[in-house]
Amino acid sequence: MVSIDRMTDDDVKEVAEIERQCFALPWSEKSFHDEMTNKLAVYFTAKEDGKCVGYAGFWNVSGDGGITNIAVLPAYRRRGVASMLMEEMIRAADALGIDLLTLEVRKSNLAAQELYKKYGFDIIGERKRYYSDNGEDAFIMTKILSK
Ligand SMILES: CC(C)(COP(=O)(O)OP(=O)(O)OC[C@H]1O[C@@H](n2cnc3c(N)ncnc32)[C@H](O)[C@@H]1OP(=O)(O)O)[C@@H](O)C(=O)NCCC(=O)NCCS
Repeated sequence: MVSIDRMTDDDVKEVAEIERQCFALPWSEKSFHDEMTNKLAVYFTAKEDGKCVGYAGFWNVSGDGGITNIAVLPAYRRRGVASMLMEEMIRAADALGIDLLTLEVRKSNLAAQELYKKYGFDIIGERKRYYSDNGEDAFIMTKILSK
C-alpha cells in the first residue's frame, strides 16, 4: 500500500536517488536538504512498504503555488502514485489559501502533460529553450483552485 507523507530530511537520500533515475538535470542531494529548511517549500513523499517510490513538491510564494517537481520511480509508474501525490499537493495548496498552481513541463513530456491535464491544468504559454541540457522549450501550465 502506498502512503503519502510530508517529506523530512531523513527522506532526502532516497529522494535524490529517485531524482537521478527520473531527470536529465537532477537536483542534487544538497538542494533537497536545503528545501527541507525552506519555509516556502511543501514536499511530499510516496512510500510503499517503507521505500520511497515517488515525491512531489511546490513553493508557496505569496499565495502562488509553483510546482517544482513530481517524479515516480520507473518500476512504480502507471499505478496511480503520481495521482496520489498530485491530490495531496492540491489539498495542501488549497489549505494554504493558494489560488493558482503553476508549473513548467518539457514539450516532449507527454506523460506528465497528461497527468497535469487530468488534474485540471491548462497550457497557458511557453518558455523558449527553458531546459539547458538540450535547449528544449517548456509549456507553462496552470490550475486555478476553487475558493
Ligand atoms: C509523469 C509521472 C510522474 C507519472 O507518474 P505515474 O505514477 O506513472 O502516474 P499515474 O499512474 O498517477 O497516472 C496519472 C495519469 O497520468 C497520465 N500518464 C501517466 N503516465 C503516462 C504515460 N506514460 N502516457 C500517457 N499518460 C500518462 C495518465 O493520464 C494517467 O491517468 P490514467 O492512469 O487514468 O490514464 C512519471 O511518469 C514520472 O516520474 N516521469 C519522470 C519524471 C517527470 O517527467 N516528471 C514531471 C516533470 S514536469
